[in-house]
Amino acid sequence: MTDTLHERPVLVVDFGAQYAQLIARRVREAHCYSEIVPHTMSTEEMLARQPAAVVLSGGPSSVYADGAPWLDGGLLEAGVPVLGICYGFQAMAGCLGGDVARTGQREYGHTPATITEPDSTLFAGQPAEQSVWMSHGDAVTTAPSGTRVTATTPGAPVAAFEDDERRLYGVQWHPEVLHTSHGQQVLENFLLRGAGLQPTWTSAHVAEELVASIREKVGDAHVICGLSGGVDSSVAAALVNAAVGDQLTCVFVDHGLLREGEAEQVEQDFVAATGVDLVVVDAQQRFLDALAGVSDPEQKRKIIGREFIRVFEQAARDIAGSADAEGHPVEFLVQGTLYPDVVESGGGTGAANIKSHHNVGGLPDDLQFTLIEPLRTLFKDEVRQVGLELGVPEAIVWRQPFPGPGLAIRIVGAVDADRLATLRRADAVAREELSAAGLDREIWQCPVVLLADVRSVGVQGDARTYGHPVVLRPVSSEDAMTADWTRLPYDVLARISSRITNEVAEVNRVVLDVTSKPPGTIEWE
Ligand code: XMP
Repeated sequence: MTDTLHERPVLVVDFGAQYAQLIARRVREAHCYSEIVPHTMSTEEMLARQPAAVVLSGGPSSVYADGAPWLDGGLLEAGVPVLGICYGFQAMAGCLGGDVARTGQREYGHTPATITEPDSTLFAGQPAEQSVWMSHGDAVTTAPSGTRVTATTPGAPVAAFEDDERRLYGVQWHPEVLHTSHGQQVLENFLLRGAGLQPTWTSAHVAEELVASIREKVGDAHVICGLSGGVDSSVAAALVNAAVGDQLTCVFVDHGLLREGEAEQVEQDFVAATGVDLVVVDAQQRFLDALAGVSDPEQKRKIIGREFIRVFEQAARDIAGSADAEGHPVEFLVQGTLYPDVVESGGGTGAANIKSHHNVGGLPDDLQFTLIEPLRTLFKDEVRQVGLELGVPEAIVWRQPFPGPGLAIRIVGAVDADRLATLRRADAVAREELSAAGLDREIWQCPVVLLADVRSVGVQGDARTYGHPVVLRPVSSEDAMTADWTRLPYDVLARISSRITNEVAEVNRVVLDVTSKPPGTIEWE
């Protein structure tokens, strides 16, 4: 059972490009609820979801290729407004009786488009000359009868068409990418003018809907939620708390691998802001003991994952025991699964295991919890907005990604209390300076890595030093799958470097990591 919403979705049919998630996000930015479905889903199933509109995504295939994804014409006759994009546009044209040809004229990247019908539904209020992002080989050469051509480009005589009567629309280019000058306006025109939707998907509305659906699902059962200090678990907890506050117990396992101030953010600030009932398990020594002498990154991850589950499981059993005594069975465990995880686990081909990421979950079967996943319909930016709506502290809402195994995988070498203290201090200085320079939202994250097994000679106050280097790893990214190293201003780098070498006794050298991902990963371990 999922945590359902009472919304009619805009279905984004995924024809296999990487663009479907982006389209779904843009639709939501236009304040309309969207869901992604695979192109293999039958028309009956799609219609059973009562879509308010349908968007056909781009795809890598040529409509002429063997096994090219197929569009069922029935979807275009169901009376549901449809927008076809790129491949979806061509498939739509083909289905409706237009011609799609291999013109031999590929268009890729920035392309000038001319809007020939400035009063049209998709292009009303926009300039006649636009720069659009293209990626196609085939092109629609004859528009289907009953549609009017509304735009052209040098390589696509029919670059957009529309039929207001049947509410069918299409564009050859990608309105969802930022390189397309009026892309978001085209999407909004389709949704609001073409399909006649109301822009009601706002964070206040989402929070209200989710709270109501959690309340309905939970009834008077008891709920447990693990807090990590990150935005996902915090917002998930805040939602459940808003729904069934006195039936929720949050558990924070302090493994001692968080950064400076983060445990306090959970234990004090989050509790003060939301009023959740929090159990803190101080497991710092236990994690240090388990990690003693271990340098191998995968080994560290496994140990942390294993210890985490054990500690959390014990806490859950204790809570289940005491809640039983009150007569409320503990039935639910909250998990901060996001919509991209749901989409990717449903349709993905499975990525290679580069690093074993651990998350709360994988609890033994005998605990018998039903999962409650309040964020499984949301993208990360929406989670943040809902968090703000619920009064989650900004420091948590805007926290940059931080790995579950924490500072342990930012110490190259074995982990011990002193090394953790050194890294924590250096990291705090880097974060302070990045914040002071107003760069928090510019960068994706900036791991600070302690090379604990490396020493170099330095000189400080006339004395020779023999300390450790730290590495600054500032990266820019959209989704952490790929990343580039961030060109931080030299003066910010200089301040970070001089403060760390002055203030952190064990560190006498600061170096900058200028590797993109790939080939480097973001974290060093
Ligand atoms: P990499 O190092 O694989 O990191 O380029 C990609 C993103 O994932 C985070 N990361 C982790 N998150 N458990 C987590 O929850 C982990 O074991 C883990 N390892 C890396 C990393 O911070 C980056 O945002």
